[in-house]
Amino acid sequence: MISRQSVDAVINAAAIDEVVGDYIALKKRGANLLGRCPFHDEKTPSFTVSPAKGIYKCFGCGKAGNSVSFLMEHDHLSFSDAIRRLAQKYQIVVEEDNVQNSEEYNEAQKVRDSLLVALEFAKNYFKEQLKTEEGLVAGESYFRERGYTQQTIDEFELGYSPQGWESLVNAAVTNQFNLDYFVSAGLIKKNEDRGTYFDMFRQRVIFPIHDLTGKVIAFGGRQLVKDDKSPKYLNSPETDVYHKSNVLYGIFQSKKGIKALNNCYLVEGYTDVITLHQAGVKNVVASSGTSLTEGQIKLIKRFTENVTVLYDGDAAGIKASLRGIDLLLAQGLNVRTVSFPEGEDPDSYCKQLGAEAFNKFLNEHVRDFILFKIDLLLKGVENDPIRKTEVVKNLMQSISAIPDAMKRAAYARECSKLVDMDEKLLLSEINKIRRKNGEGNIPTHFDEEIKDILQTNLPEPVVYEMGEEQELGLVKLLIQSGTQKFTEEATVADFIFKELQEDEALQINHHLYSRILKEVKQQMEEQLNFDEHYFTNHVDTDIRKLAADILSETEKYELSPFWLEGGKSIPTERENYIRDLQSVFLFLKLSKVNKLIKNNLDEFATVTSATDIEHCTEYNIQLINVRNAIAKIMGTSYNVL
Ligand code: UTP
Ligand code: MN
Repeated sequence: MISRQSVDAVINAAAIDEVVGDYIALKKRGANLLGRCPFHDEKTPSFTVSPAKGIYKCFGCGKAGNSVSFLMEHDHLSFSDAIRRLAQKYQIVVEEDNVQNSEEYNEAQKVRDSLLVALEFAKNYFKEQLKTEEGLVAGESYFRERGYTQQTIDEFELGYSPQGWESLVNAAVTNQFNLDYFVSAGLIKKNEDRGTYFDMFRQRVIFPIHDLTGKVIAFGGRQLVKDDKSPKYLNSPETDVYHKSNVLYGIFQSKKGIKALNNCYLVEGYTDVITLHQAGVKNVVASSGTSLTEGQIKLIKRFTENVTVLYDGDAAGIKASLRGIDLLLAQGLNVRTVSFPEGEDPDSYCKQLGAEAFNKFLNEHVRDFILFKIDLLLKGVENDPIRKTEVVKNLMQSISAIPDAMKRAAYARECSKLVDMDEKLLLSEINKIRRKNGEGNIPTHFDEEIKDILQTNLPEPVVYEMGEEQELGLVKLLIQSGTQKFTEEATVADFIFKELQEDEALQINHHLYSRILKEVKQQMEEQLNFDEHYFTNHVDTDIRKLAADILSETEKYELSPFWLEGGKSIPTERENYIRDLQSVFLFLKLSKVNKLIKNNLDEFATVTSATDIEHCTEYNIQLINVRNAIAKIMGTSYNVL
């Protein structure tokens, strides 16, 4: 347990804007700061931080609290661990008694802590080794050859692992460490036959990989003597503290720069990050070998919406990275790019030009990614109609990934000029791709804008009026086609549960239906089967009967008479399940908005002050817009409006 005094001291010292600022970009807005909420996906910032009050509140999802609750929520920490983390940040010594007995100090956290301690020890060990006789000759001189200054070596905590097989083993044993943690961190390996241990990183320069808060969570080690039997770069394996797909090399050193410059340079490896940093490019991270993941993109999005991808200068490298970039576009980032002369990577070219000229080069050669891609692909095919069409289709693929409709339209216009094709034709191609990919009119989840508006305008949670008919509609879809593919990766069941989970207000009340949903979810989690037969052979009589009823309606069934007021319900055939599915959810969203409109009008009738009246009126306009947007989607996918 941490003493009361320590808790108070930490809470007093913690500045909410600094604590939150470690995770997301904040902009000044009067006395407060504003940023994009880290707890839910949103485009328009509604996460407000009040330094004066020491609190945050998200007007989108309603999350609110102080520095401690922020860390608890964000990093899934217990209260005590959040206090410890803050104490570390503000260099406050916390008084603790009997930590071991404290219940919340659970086993998993203990393992992670021990791993981190082992990694910290190894990092310091490697740093020290750089100053030994062997380290100076082999390691330090190598870094100097690469042009790294002492300051750079210190900032990135670079190190050296000696030649022998047991240097780290011996150091760890001398310091009475449990070697198991070094083994799971991939630093040491056990020879099972002999029962002895040996170092994994030998005669390599060491690049520690830091997390967002500066803790070392893994290592990369570059060989100094060419040996084809082992890789040029050896990297730590995945561990409880190192999940590759959520880590970007350099994020700790660069996060301030990324925030300040509102742009993030993306490069390939350790050496690019370090060289550029030293040249004054302080907003650069690397995805380290693996192609970009969604987790990494989310990490960038905490600090900026702008990414500039720096390519190697060879054609194969460019073509290979094109694919990863569509993912950036799909996440709504603005993507720019700089390409380098043939045979040069950012590291080598920066060294060649020198800091000043390199910075100038970056600024002068930055290009919008899509326009760059158009140029690149069109080269040489202008006069070949068939190949040109292929290229254009490929380009439309990239553009169709962009979530923002206005941006898509702008690119279509730009593109139509460059490829000399009709803008409308291009737009319709884009929409075709979006539909095929389950976006646009057939969204895998609802239009982000609608979601944002719904979320930002919810003064209090509203429970959807999900009638029994809609609930039955969902269950029907689950039983009839839950295992069918909805998109490339997701089944109908995946979609249903995702929608249900995204909105806590969606609740299934009917006892039997909610039981079926729970059961399907469990089957899914355990990767077990839940097809038609599963239900028709169910031990529960009620479920068996319901399934039989549903499945006997083979010809056609009507989901429910849920159409827009005054509209009509449309009989749908079984293969139209995708539309049914969406209409259930669209209908629910619509009824939610209708309810909000009604509430707001009720309130409007009672308010008297000018500001309240203004507020209600404005809110009303927003809600009507949302309603129209939803109605439009329903209208366009059904052609009934
Ligand atoms: P390089 O091959 O250019 O590495 O890869 P280097 O250390 O600069 O070697 P030389 O001096 O040019 O021959 C650039 C980046 O790619 C990653 C590393 O992060 C490196 O910084 N990389 C490269 C790996 O992760 N693994 C490898 O096997 C090779
Ligand atoms: Mn290189």
